[in-house]
Amino acid sequence: MVKNMVRDLAHNEFAEKAGEVDQLGIFPWDNIKLMAEHGLLGINIPEKYSGAGSDTVSHVLAIEEVARVCASTSVVLTTQALVLAPLMIAGTEEQKQKYVTPMARGDVLGSFCLTEPGAGSDAGSIKTLAVRDGDNYVINGQKCFITNAGESEIYVVVAKTDKDKGHRGISLFVVEKGTPGLTFGKKEDKMGIRGSVTREVIFENCCVPKENLLGEENMGFRILMQTLDHTRTGVGAQALGIAQGALDAAVKYAGERVQFGNTLNSFQTIQVMLADMATQVEAARLLVHQAAYDLDEGKDITRISSMAKLCASDVAMQVTTDAVQVLGGYGYIKEYPVERMMRDAKITQIYEGTNQVQRLVIAKTLF
Ligand code: CAA
Repeated sequence: MVKNMVRDLAHNEFAEKAGEVDQLGIFPWDNIKLMAEHGLLGINIPEKYSGAGSDTVSHVLAIEEVARVCASTSVVLTTQALVLAPLMIAGTEEQKQKYVTPMARGDVLGSFCLTEPGAGSDAGSIKTLAVRDGDNYVINGQKCFITNAGESEIYVVVAKTDKDKGHRGISLFVVEKGTPGLTFGKKEDKMGIRGSVTREVIFENCCVPKENLLGEENMGFRILMQTLDHTRTGVGAQALGIAQGALDAAVKYAGERVQFGNTLNSFQTIQVMLADMATQVEAARLLVHQAAYDLDEGKDITRISSMAKLCASDVAMQVTTDAVQVLGGYGYIKEYPVERMMRDAKITQIYEGTNQVQRLVIAKTLF
């Protein structure tokens, strides 16, 4: 039901605009409102906090169907999940009521502020500092590559609370838009997901009440790692959707395009490519669904969520590249969607942990 509902929504409302969203770099507020109305922004959040009360399997099905036609729009779903996860993992009841509820309803968006100019894969080396001052914390620092920055109302910020303690001196805070000292810097001009906003976030003596600390002081790195365990499967689902969208386009084109007197799908060279693409997509889908199911079952998901993200994003890159090849010259121009999909696929190998980081995480679980 979820898959069919989201497929209809994405097909009827998002597909036609996806090219324009990409080319003009339009932040897709219209699509976001529709997703909110359909309960997709909090699909896996309990009804108690105004979510749809469904599970992670439903969540990944929804992400896949949206990404299949418009990756930029699907980034809103994965980013919302990235902010909701630490709030659900470590938030107090009061914090959940205050921040999870409006986000799950889709009234507001959230942004996750981890990455800094000098701290990407090495998340423990962040420099942003939060200093306790009476009943407040004062935050100073600069974040970069922050998805939805400026558009979001709620910012989960990773900061050092003890700069001498490495990853054991990290804490998480909630900062609301409009807090004095929180400003937004330049917007990035990106290769893909061009309808998604990626921007710097700057904290200058940004003062938040101590109640905005998420979890215990200096315990933030563990919450951060648990968060990424929860959300990497969603990026896998996004990659899977992009790959499926490219496969759909390649199969359709191969059935229409005539060369040497026959449609492309009559040639074994093309059949072999399409068969390999379809097999890779299905393999990625099984891993993504297994990871989502394991999370719902309360199992340890560190390894399988990294595997799902790693596998699906590599598949997305390969399948979108092959789709461009099947379409030939037409695949390389913007009139057809596969060149956009190939550009969109690339980021899934990079964000929420590069695929090199995923391999490190997987390797650690083997020894
Ligand atoms: N669950 C709970 N705890 C964990 C954990 C997990 N999955 N993984 C590690 N930990 C704990 C360890 O037990 C250890 O605890 P102790 O304090 O007891 O020592 C601690 O965390 C440190 O672990 P490591 O020594 O393994 O940490 P590390 O510094 O070597 O880093 C890493 C590990 C996997 C490379 C990690 O830094 C990482 O995931 N980096 C990538 C960061 C990332 O994904 N960035 C993406 C930004 S978000 C984004 O892209 C958002 C967007 O808007 C698009």
